[in-house]
Amino acid sequence: MKTYFTNKILVFSLIAGFITIISCNKFENSKIAETYLDPNEPDYGFKSTSPEWNAKIHLGRVLFYDKALSVNNSISCASCHRQEVAFADNVAQSRGFENKLTGRNSIAIQNLGANSIMNIGFEINTPLFWDGRERNITSLISKPIANHIEMGMDNPEALIAKLNQLPYYKSLVQNAYQVDKLDMTILANAMVQFISQITTQNARFDQSKMFNGTQLHPLSALEQQGEQLFNTTYNCARCHHPNVGPYMSEDFANIGLDLNNNDKGRMNVSNSSADEGKFKVPDLHNVALTAPYMHDGRFKTLEDVIEHYSNNIKANSHLDNRLQNPDGTPISLNISESDKKAIIAFLGSMTDYKTITNPNLSSPFKSR
Ligand code: HEC
Ligand code: HEC
Repeated sequence: MKTYFTNKILVFSLIAGFITIISCNKFENSKIAETYLDPNEPDYGFKSTSPEWNAKIHLGRVLFYDKALSVNNSISCASCHRQEVAFADNVAQSRGFENKLTGRNSIAIQNLGANSIMNIGFEINTPLFWDGRERNITSLISKPIANHIEMGMDNPEALIAKLNQLPYYKSLVQNAYQVDKLDMTILANAMVQFISQITTQNARFDQSKMFNGTQLHPLSALEQQGEQLFNTTYNCARCHHPNVGPYMSEDFANIGLDLNNNDKGRMNVSNSSADEGKFKVPDLHNVALTAPYMHDGRFKTLEDVIEHYSNNIKANSHLDNRLQNPDGTPISLNISESDKKAIIAFLGSMTDYKTITNPNLSSPFKSR
């Protein structure tokens, strides 16, 4: 009897051990899982009307997610512009290819279609980057490496030669541009086609505005209260014009985050001391998804941001006059807790969940 039990225990432990070994192997395998490109080209909405355009968007998407764009195959654009956080990053500073930190907080890529050439025949270039040092998204991408991207590829020819050796680019480029090889112009153009698909203009806020006068999808009572506070009581809209459609703010402001500016912001571009500590007024679409906030990611939550405007604006010598009292001291908006809640609810109505759920914006690389 005793031996029977001992044997049973032995068998059990053998089975348990075996299962552990199998699952460990599985774990090892998943760690080294190879990624491959999903062979299917989805319909981005143009497959029947303009197959070439569809193929351009697809090529751009592959490039956006391809870690081969960094010198040691460690990061892609999507490492710092992540779909799950609305194409921003959820850390104050992102890490580049050698774990080096970016100087500023990653900006959510959204509504930049207007920065490529629009169908209406002229170009609208809103400022790009926190200091607006770039205006044209094609040129932002075609000098990526020198610019902000921390991918270690400071030699465009070497990058293009490397990408052309990968097995999948030949047919992607043929389908999109009817040539055999990638070059920098094609790379930038395709990426712009993809990035232009990242729009956030179908949030409930936008829907509430759509049909001039008649609101088909009105905001909730709390959101409407927040909208009124944002637009009127606290005058946030003096800088952040809540807009529907392409974001076209040309505005830069010093909002008194510190007494002195470590990062001179816009002044680095204009060389004018009047621009010291100015940063661009960001598009607040999807802001509920893109914490942390500000050019340096200093605030972890929207509550922290509103608390800044409420009581913490510093007497920076370049403080924007929209945030000054008539005697030049910084304003304190003294926003009550219930008003803070309403403003945050209103900001939440600007979330377009499609940005984070649209499969056509996700990585085309799958793991085996
Ligand atoms: C290592 C992280 C990192 C990588 C990789 C990266 N970015 Fe960025 N991106 C940032 C940061 C940080 C900013 C803000 C920089 C600044 O304002 O000085 C930014 C800003 C941008 C902007 C400006 C958005 C706006 O509205 O002003 C665009 C467009 C952009 N990146 C596209 C790309 C593309 C395309 C790639 C790949 C070729 C890429 N990024 C790779 C971190 C990164
Ligand atoms: C004088 C112009 C101005 C006013 C008024 C203003 N803002 Fe801002 N806001 C800015 C600028 C500029 C930034 C970016 C500053 C930086 O990063 O240094 C910003 C950043 C923000 C951000 C963070 C966005 C992000 O992606 O990091 C939020 C949220 C915000 N403001 C909400 C508000 C609210 C709510 C009010 C009203 C209580 C308000 N703002 C009033 C100019 C303004």
